[in-house]
Amino acid sequence: MAVDQISFDFYEFLHRTEKSREWLKKAVEVMPGGVTANIKSFAPYPIIMKHGHGAYLEDVDGNEYIDYLLAYGALMIGHNHPKMKERIVKQLEEDGTNLFGTPHEREYRLAKRIQSYYPSMEMVRYTNSGTEGTLLAIRLANAYTGKQKIAKFEGHYHGGYDKVLFSINPDPKKAGPIHTPTPIPESKGIDPYYEKNILILPFNDLKGTEAILNEHKDEIAAVIIEPIQGGFIPATPAFIQGLRKITEQLGIILIFDEVKTGFRIGIGGAQSMYGVKPDLTVLGKVIGGGFPIGIVGGKKEIMMESGPKHSSDVFDVSQGKKTTATEVLFHSGTYNGHPTILAVADTVLDILEEEGKEVLKRTERLKKGLEDLFRKRGIPMQALGKGTIFSVVLTEKDVKNYRDLQNSNLSLRKKIDYLLLNEGIYTKPMNRYSLSVAHGDREIERTLDAYQNVLYKKL
Ligand SMILES: Cc1ncc(COP(=O)(O)O)c(C=O)c1O
Repeated sequence: MAVDQISFDFYEFLHRTEKSREWLKKAVEVMPGGVTANIKSFAPYPIIMKHGHGAYLEDVDGNEYIDYLLAYGALMIGHNHPKMKERIVKQLEEDGTNLFGTPHEREYRLAKRIQSYYPSMEMVRYTNSGTEGTLLAIRLANAYTGKQKIAKFEGHYHGGYDKVLFSINPDPKKAGPIHTPTPIPESKGIDPYYEKNILILPFNDLKGTEAILNEHKDEIAAVIIEPIQGGFIPATPAFIQGLRKITEQLGIILIFDEVKTGFRIGIGGAQSMYGVKPDLTVLGKVIGGGFPIGIVGGKKEIMMESGPKHSSDVFDVSQGKKTTATEVLFHSGTYNGHPTILAVADTVLDILEEEGKEVLKRTERLKKGLEDLFRKRGIPMQALGKGTIFSVVLTEKDVKNYRDLQNSNLSLRKKIDYLLLNEGIYTKPMNRYSLSVAHGDREIERTLDAYQNVLYKKL
């Protein structure tokens, strides 16, 4: 029987995770689905974790896992890095507070440091998440160009709000022609206004993209892109360079959403690897070391849309003055530029400068080891990705976009992922693999052994 025809038995999973199941029974009484983010749920129920250290997670049943989800890529310094802990304590003592609620020196210092890796970010603003970051970048593009529509690529994720929550994981049968995809909403409750103001572009298809952008150039404020789709399907250099050229010619702002790729595809992100300068960049995840952050930056003239008019507060309508709100782009947040988190970000950069290159090397070792194992077992597979993220994609064919990925062997991949959970290898089934400074040779060996067990003894 072909390996992908063997039905999957949850028995061992159910047996190992009894306490998770019990927890979930309680959690569903107070939280819809027992979770606080739907993405964190999976069938038959998600595993409840209670401890993390280095490269490891431990669940409520006491099972240990090598963590490759790493909080969806955020934890490149691993769980609870000692230097991070030390910095937090030191910073809280030095600052005397955990939140100034005013401008402070570290905002400037970190901005300068970020610029040294991302020279395209001539000015920056801090947000509390990647979602808030892309929201601000898009508002900046709308304000600067005076245009309304946004173009995004099929299969790309930019946060969970109405403007961009389209065609991330659409049913290919409903997603329209390959060169002119149709916007498919990814949530109930999205205002139909946004469906009229989004255009879906075909990734790695320069001709198709150019045709759509040309047709709508007077309405499109920005193209937002994950330069490496989902963190693991790279844009071809010709595509990304071509996109830069076309957007420049058409007066469309190019936004690189590097929330996943920032600091992971080398410290300078995908833009450094491709040698392409976007107009705006959004960073998040890795730089926060596990704490919430987003950073938006780009061309000075665009970023300045968000600058306050120094003579007045946008909310100040005292002394009979008219509000100046519509003259300025509104950007605010109680926790923006959180001083303790910016200190952590500074330490994350120290750690990555010291150890980042080793993580790249170990990722390559793991990718090669996995490819060898699958080849020997006769299962078509590629460890697809750049830098310190990749995904196990079960096909030998070229994977250049969302639809190619749908044509890979997803059901077998899912089966393998569940079997690996039983072997102590954690990623949410079907998710990508991210590595951290804490993933050493020992963890790589253990992971390859676990795969060997699954591929040869369990399938
Ligand atoms: C490319 C990309 N953009 C934006 C976001 C949203 O970031 P956050 O979850 O921090 O709001 C994510 C999160 O996965 C992402 O991968």
